[in-house]
Amino acid sequence: MAKKDKKIKPKKMEIKKSVKAVKTVAKEKVVKEKEGATERGKKSFSLLRGMHDILPKDEKYWKPMFASAQNIAAHFQFGRLETPILEELGLFVRAVGKGTDVVDKEMYTFEDKDGTKVCMRPELTAAAARAYIMHGFSNLPQPVKLWYWGPMFRHDRPQAGRYRQFHQAGYEIFGQADSAADAELILVGVNFFRDLGLPVEVKINSIGTPAERANYKNELVNYYRSKRSYLCEECRNRLVKNPMRLLDCKEERCQPVKEEAPQIINWLGADSKNHFMKVLEYLDELGVPYQLDNTLVRGLNYYTHTVFEFYAAEGGEEGQQSALGGGGRYDLLVEELGGRPTPAAGMAIGLERTVLALKQYNDKNNREMPKTPVDAFIAQLGEEARRVTLKMVDQLRNSDIKISFNFFKTSLKTQLELADAIKAPFAVIIGQKEVQDGTAIIRDMESGIQEIVDQKKLITVLKRKLGKFDDKR
Ligand code: HAM
Repeated sequence: MAKKDKKIKPKKMEIKKSVKAVKTVAKEKVVKEKEGATERGKKSFSLLRGMHDILPKDEKYWKPMFASAQNIAAHFQFGRLETPILEELGLFVRAVGKGTDVVDKEMYTFEDKDGTKVCMRPELTAAAARAYIMHGFSNLPQPVKLWYWGPMFRHDRPQAGRYRQFHQAGYEIFGQADSAADAELILVGVNFFRDLGLPVEVKINSIGTPAERANYKNELVNYYRSKRSYLCEECRNRLVKNPMRLLDCKEERCQPVKEEAPQIINWLGADSKNHFMKVLEYLDELGVPYQLDNTLVRGLNYYTHTVFEFYAAEGGEEGQQSALGGGGRYDLLVEELGGRPTPAAGMAIGLERTVLALKQYNDKNNREMPKTPVDAFIAQLGEEARRVTLKMVDQLRNSDIKISFNFFKTSLKTQLELADAIKAPFAVIIGQKEVQDGTAIIRDMESGIQEIVDQKKLITVLKRKLGKFDDKR
C-alpha cells in the first residue's frame, strides 16, 4: 500500500511519450465517432435522411388505419393489388411525366446489374395501370377496382410529414367513365378518415382534357409572363417547365398574382363541365361537403377532369399546408402505357401525414385513439398456475376471446392493476388451489365480484358474460 502511494517522478522522455499516446487515442476517438463508432469500438448506425422507423408506440395509429383501409376495400369491393417496389424507370417517366417534381427531382433510380434502368416506385397508380394491362384485366367485367397499401419512395427535402420513404393506402377504379367513380373515390377517402375520427375537408377542381388544358395553359403563361417580376424563383422555372404548377405555389409573394390568374373552369368544354357538375351532384347527394378550388392542379401529369385532395379540417400548420391524400381521374393513362383506351380514376392517402394530423387533432381535442379492446386478463400465482394458464391463453385465443397476461409479474395485486390499466372487463385468476381443484376465478373488474367456475366451462361462461355467442352451448 505504502509503496503504491509513493510518488514516483516520471522521466521527461516518458512524459512526452504518454502525452503523445493520449493525443493519438483522442484523435482516433474523434475519427471513430465521426464514422459512427461507439466507445466499444463498433460502428453504430443511424437512419438515412428522410427515412423513419414505425415504432410500437405508434401502433395505435397504424393498426386502425390498416383496419379501416381494409374494411373500406371490402365494403366497396376493391381487390388487393401488391406490386414490386422496383419497376422499370420508363414506366414512371411516361406515366407521371417529365416536368413534374417526382420525375425530375425525386426518383430513386439506378442501373440494375443487367443494365436495366430501374426505380423505386414513387407512387402506385402507374404500376396499377401496368398491372391492369399486363394481366389482361380489360377482359374482366368492368370496372376493375384495386386497392393497395405499401411504401413509396421520393427523394424529397425532408420535413414534418414529408419523408423519402412513406406509405400510402390507395384505391383505383379502371373501366368506369361515369362521374359516380370520382364521387365513390372521394367517399372512400372521407370514410377512411371518418373511421379514424379525423375531420377532413375535400378540395376539388376539374382540369379538363389535354386540349382544353393546352388552351388554358397559353392564357395562363401569357398572364404570368406579364407578372414575371413579381414571381418567386421556382415560379419563373415553372413558367417554362410546368405552367399548371404555377397555381400550386404557396410562396407569399406569388399569392396576389395567383388570385388574379385566369380560371380553368372557363376553358372547359360542355362535356367536361357536365362530367364535373355530375361529380358535385353525387357529392351533394351523398352529403359529402367539398370546397371548389380552382388552383388545385395536382403534381402528376396523368390527370384529366376531376382532381381532389383531402386536408385536415383542423390541426397544426402542417395539417393545413399539406394534403393528407389526393387523386383524380386519369382517362388517358392506360392507353399511354400501351393498353386499350380505358377510363380510370383513383386516389391515395398519405399514412404518415394522417398519423401526424391525428396526433395534432387528438392533442388539441384531448382525445385518445380508441384502444384495442381486451376481453379478459389472466392472472397467475406460482409455477404450476403459470403452466395451466399458458394452455388456457391458447384455448381462449382460439375461442375468439381477446386476452392479455404478463408472466413476469408474480404478485396478484400488480397483475390486477395491469388488468385495470388496459380496461379488461374481467380477470381470470388461477392460483395453487385452482390448479388442484380444476377451477378458475372470474373477477368482474368493475364491481370486484368474483365467481368460481370449472375450468372446462370457463370459455362458455366468459363468452356469456362478454355477450359473445357460443355455438358450443
Ligand atoms: P400524391 O398526391 O403524390 O398522389 O400522393 C398522395 C399522398 O401521399 C399525398 O397527399 C401525401 O399525403 C402523401 N405523400 C406524398 N409524398 C409524400 C412524402 N414525401 N412524404 C410523406 N407523404 C407523402 C399520388 O401518389 C397518386 N398516385 C394518387 C392517385 C391514385 N391518383 C390517382 N390514383
